[in-house]
Amino acid sequence: MAAMNKSRIIHLPKIIDSRGNLSFVEEYKHVPFKIERAYWIYDVPGGEKRGGHAYRENQEFIVALSGSFDVILDDGHSKVVYHLNRSYYGLYIPKMIWREINNFSTNSLAFVLSSTSYYEGDYFRDYDQFKIESCK
Ligand code: TYD
Repeated sequence: MAAMNKSRIIHLPKIIDSRGNLSFVEEYKHVPFKIERAYWIYDVPGGEKRGGHAYRENQEFIVALSGSFDVILDDGHSKVVYHLNRSYYGLYIPKMIWREINNFSTNSLAFVLSSTSYYEGDYFRDYDQFKIESCK
């Protein structure tokens, strides 16, 4: 199956409570990988974008814990845009997908779970190089 077809929105449990709602995520149960790392993107100035790379091995799950933003996925053949704006679902991104995040709302918070620890060697930061590799 093409990598792009494996990207998908995953809904998380939502425990509705008059004291405030609660959601959670567990490795293998809600995300299809072992969680090695979490990071988050915040204080994004208006009009800025993040990402602009792909990973050779790393898989990710991105949740808009606050506010909203767009995630643009590109597998080298086609593009798809996901608008994330709820804290009870997220976007699963398999390896070998070029991604960009833009259109951040004020005070948005992007929370990211990763399947590998940080390793710069895992990144494609050059789109043309990514495209050549993704077509192999
Ligand atoms: P990068 O992944 O390029 O950010 P984004 O895709 O959100 O635009 O990372 C930006 C910088 O932060 C880069 O110099 C590497 C560093 N970084 C780490 O040291 N550890 C991490 O887990 C992440 C995600 C980034």
